[in-house]
This record gives sequence, C-alpha cells and structure tokens, in this order.
Amino acid sequence: MNEPREVITIRRPRPDDAAAMAEVMGDPQVFAGLLQLPYPTEAAWRKRIDEMPTGPNTPELFLVAERGGRIVGNAGVQPATHVRRRHTAGIGMAVARDAQGQGVGSALMAAIVDWADNWAQLLRLELTVYTDNRAGLALYRKFGFVAEGTHRAYALRDGVYVDAVCMARLHPRPPQLS
Ligand SMILES: CC(C)(COP(=O)(O)OP(=O)(O)OC[C@H]1O[C@@H](n2cnc3c(N)ncnc32)[C@H](O)[C@@H]1OP(=O)(O)O)[C@@H](O)C(=O)NCCC(=O)NCCS
Repeated sequence: MNEPREVITIRRPRPDDAAAMAEVMGDPQVFAGLLQLPYPTEAAWRKRIDEMPTGPNTPELFLVAERGGRIVGNAGVQPATHVRRRHTAGIGMAVARDAQGQGVGSALMAAIVDWADNWAQLLRLELTVYTDNRAGLALYRKFGFVAEGTHRAYALRDGVYVDAVCMARLHPRPPQLS
C-alpha cells in the first residue's frame, strides 16, 4: 500500500530557515540550475531573509516549502519596476535534490500563480530555464508557460556556456469587472 505523501506547507521564510536555505542552495545539482554561485552561507541567507520586504503591500513574494519540519524548496516572484511593465514579474525556484520529482515545485508554483492571478494584479509571469532542464521545462509547461525563444550562451555553468529558454505565462482568465 502506498504511504500518503507528507503535507507540503507553503509559507514565508523565517530567519531560522537560513541554514536550511544555504544547504539547499549550496548543492551543486541545485545551484547549477539557477544563476546562484557555489558556497552560499547561512549568514548571507539570514541577512537576505531579514531584509526581505514583508509589509502587507509588498509586491515581491518569497516563499518556502516545508515538509516534515524541513525546508525542501523556495520560490520568488519579483515584479518588474518599470511603470509600463507593472503587469509582469519574474520568477525563480529551487527544490532540494532529494525532494525533487515529488510535487514540491508544483506546490510552490500553484501558490505563485494563485498570488499572481487572483491578488497581485499580474498578467504576465516570466522566467528563464536552461534548455536541458527537463524537470523545469516540464513543471513550467504544466502551469501554462510557453517558450518564447532561446538565449544563446546565457550563463556559464560549470565551465560551459549554456543556452536558456525564456518562457512566459499570460493570465489564463484576465480579471473582468464584476
Ligand atoms: C526544476 C524544479 C524546480 C522542479 O521541481 P520539482 O519539485 O522537481 O517538480 P515536481 O515534482 O512538482 O514536478 C513537476 C512536473 O514535472 C515533471 N518532472 C519532474 N521531474 C522531471 C524530469 N526529470 N523529467 C521530466 N519531467 C519531470 C513531473 O512529472 C511533474 O509533472 P506531473 O505533475 O504532470 O507528473 C526542481 O527540479 C529543481 O529545483 N531543480 C534544481 C534547480 C532548478 O533547476 N531550478 C529551476 C530553475 S529555472
């Protein structure tokens, strides 16, 4: 008989999550898929969490996924700053290596699209993903992201310049007047 999957809680980070964040993001399999560098520190993550704007009208969103009392992933939404692009935001996410392929990324993305579609007045979500990131491509397609083009030599990854796909998701049901 299959064990029921443990509950994944999506919430804002707390300063005490810093060590877990540094551990997840310090895994080469994880940071290689992002634009992060090796050797993240707990102190830097604590500072970042401490300085995250968390007021009730903050347009940025940063979330962690907790499962079984452990931080297993994180995701961020960064709204564009140009006035004419206020309807757009960039997103990024990471899941701990041993928690990948178990629905954590989907749980984080479900929270993000709910935030974007129903609360934060966002019409367009954008991201980049390396062309060989099969898990990332599958996750983003599942949530309605569409490839818009390929950046050649987008970033240096372990000594090799790799390509990245830019993807975007437009609001599937743009809000109407009631
Ligand atoms: C990319 C990443 C965020 C995906 O998160 P995840 O928790 O592994 O994703 P999920 O388990 O929710 O899977 C999402 C979908 O992708 C599919 N998928 C997962 N891994 C896959 C793989 N290796 N190949 C193909 N499809 C895959 C799943 O089947 C699932 O679809 P389904 O629900 O229809 O079955 C995670 O693997 C990760 O953090 N990787 C390292 C860092 C990174 O690359 N971040 C993204 C940068 S753009």
